[in-house]
Amino acid sequence: MKNLVVLTGAGMSAESGIKTFREMGGLWEEYDVMEVASPQAWENNPELVMRFYNERRKKLLKASPNEGHKGLVELEKYFNVQIVTQNVDDLHERAGSKNILHLHGELRKVRSTVDPNLVYEMDGWELKIGDTCEKGSQLRPHIVWFGEAVPKISDAAIICDKADIMVVIGTSLNVYPAAGLLDYAPNGIPIYLIDPNDVGTGNSNITFIKEKAGVGIQQLINILKEKYSLND
Ligand code: APR
Repeated sequence: MKNLVVLTGAGMSAESGIKTFREMGGLWEEYDVMEVASPQAWENNPELVMRFYNERRKKLLKASPNEGHKGLVELEKYFNVQIVTQNVDDLHERAGSKNILHLHGELRKVRSTVDPNLVYEMDGWELKIGDTCEKGSQLRPHIVWFGEAVPKISDAAIICDKADIMVVIGTSLNVYPAAGLLDYAPNGIPIYLIDPNDVGTGNSNITFIKEKAGVGIQQLINILKEKYSLND
C-alpha cells in the first residue's frame, strides 16, 4: 500500500464547531496568544492559562468528528494513512484513524511540571491549581506552547520523507516547524491541499481543492480512486 501522509490543522475540526486560530473570530482574536499559550503566560498567570484550556476542553467534549475526519478513515481502505496533526483535539482518534502524530500536544492530556515524561489522560475537562502528578508537582496542559520545542518534529519529518502522496488540510501554514514539513515530501509526489480559502505555500506542485474538509476529502477520494484505479 502507498503511504498517504496527511498534515492537518485547525480547519480540519472547523465543521465540528471547533474554532480556528487566524480567521475572523478565531481564537487569536479572542485571546492574546502570549497570555494563554506560552511558558511566560504559565509563569505569570497559570489560572488564566488553565481557564483557556479548560474552556477548549469543555467544548471538545461536546464536539464530534465531522465528515472530513471520517473521510480520512475511509482512505485507510486504500492507503497506509499517517496523520500528522497540529490539532490538539482527539477528533481524528474518535473518528477511528489509526496512525496519528500530534505535533502540538493533546488537549485531553496533562503532564507533570517536574517530569515531562509523566503524561496523564484527563477524564473530565477541568484542570485546577493543586492538581498534581505522582511526584507532587503541579500538572500543566500537555500542549506545546509558543517558544517551546516541538519534540515530535523529527518523527514527523521522517514520516513525510516516506510519503508517496501528501495531503494538507485546514492549515494556514503559518506556524513553523509544522509548516516546513511540506519540504520533506519527496520531489515530484502528488500533493493535494484542501482549504476553502487560498493558502500561500510557495510550492508549485500542489493541486488545490478549494473546499471545506468535509466536501474536499470526498472529492480527493474520488480523484485518488480514479488516479490509482482503486475500487471498493
Ligand atoms: N475545512 C478546511 N479548512 C478550513 C475550514 C474547513 N471547514 N475552515 C477554515 N479552514 C482553513 C482556513 O482557511 C485556514 O487556512 O483552516 C486554516 C486554519 O488556519 P489557522 O487558524 O492558522 O490554524 P492552523 O494552521 O492549524 O494553526 C497552526 O498555530 O496557533 C498555533 O498551535 C496552533 O496548531 C496551531 C498552529
